[in-house]
Amino acid sequence: MAAAFVFDRLIGPALRRLDPETAHGLTLRALGAGLAPRPREGDDPLLAQRLWGRDFANPLGLSAGFDKDAAVMAPMLGLGFGFVEVGSITPRPQPGNPRPRIFRLPEDGAVINRLGFNSGGLVQARARLQAFRNRPGGGLVGVNLGKNKDSASAGADYAEGAAALAPFADYLVVNVSSPNTPGLRALQGRGELEDLLGQVTSALPSPAPPLLLKIAPDLTDADKRDIAEVCLAQGVAGIVATNTTVQRPDGLRGDARGEAGGLSGQPLFGPSTAVLSELYSLTEGRLPLIGVGGVASGGDAYRKIRAGASLVQLYTALIYQGPNLVARIKRELARLLREDGFENITAAIGADHRYSG
Ligand SMILES: Cc1cc2nc3c(=O)[nH]c(=O)nc-3n(C[C@H](O)[C@H](O)[C@H](O)COP(=O)(O)O)c2cc1C
Repeated sequence: MAAAFVFDRLIGPALRRLDPETAHGLTLRALGAGLAPRPREGDDPLLAQRLWGRDFANPLGLSAGFDKDAAVMAPMLGLGFGFVEVGSITPRPQPGNPRPRIFRLPEDGAVINRLGFNSGGLVQARARLQAFRNRPGGGLVGVNLGKNKDSASAGADYAEGAAALAPFADYLVVNVSSPNTPGLRALQGRGELEDLLGQVTSALPSPAPPLLLKIAPDLTDADKRDIAEVCLAQGVAGIVATNTTVQRPDGLRGDARGEAGGLSGQPLFGPSTAVLSELYSLTEGRLPLIGVGGVASGGDAYRKIRAGASLVQLYTALIYQGPNLVARIKRELARLLREDGFENITAAIGADHRYSG
């Protein structure tokens, strides 16, 4: 309780008075210095599941963008996340877009960012991941791959990242859905995706970790059908749904709502869950899905799971609710599963599709 009090009353409000990127930098430094609270109560066995040959103690993960350069994996796992996704990592270091490039919309529980893949690059990330794997303790870490803004070949960039980081990743994500790199989201088209996945797959070492695709919420019905078909045909192991949206839903109140970039947080919950649910139907539940977008409570995580998610991730809610959110969501989720008579998490995945016809 003391840790919850300290964050909710002192640290959280102080951080939210700073520019968002400065606050994030301070948070990473504090985490790196070992100042993270450690509420590690053991996970409820109800939340455990085995996926892709890995044991997930709980289904709640940290989504990409928080730990872009694989700097704070151990402290974030220590907060109680079942897994952490680092990245997006680009092959060569690049600065991203000019600041300011992250904006809070507190009235909406939302954020707009146009970071544009600021990344320390592959070499740094590889060294950090290797050091992490050589330490005792460990934990599940997914690696999210991006491309450099000025690269001549997207396929070559993703293939290079996959080959370099596969040995240290519990899973890899090809991220073709960030809205802040020109041309990136066009890689979600059928032909482009087939080429891209073909190039990445042939660059993977053997044995290779599972390869996932991260998609945008702003897709046409035809796009979604194509994505499901291509993923199934090319042996993609799962889909992360979704990234931030370029839409601005009616009713946004935050002063920053007119800023360019990708919107995350509560207003994204509905659209991203709808895409997740559609992908579950289109893939007939044959691919594990990671549901992400606007998760801020155990109830939200539960809705993603019932809509078809095997795992759930969050980022934006952490900015507003702080680190105690992780334990809270897990507690609430276990209670909701029990109340509805599920003996384990696997039984609840996609439940809405079975009971609502
Ligand atoms: C500041 C910020 C940076 C992000 N950077 C990345 C990124 O590098 N790669 C990526 O795949 N997603 C990135 N995302 C998207 C998140 O991983 C997530 O898909 C999205 O924010 C929706 O989840 P949320 O509503 O819980 O934040 C970023 C999000 C935010 C807010």
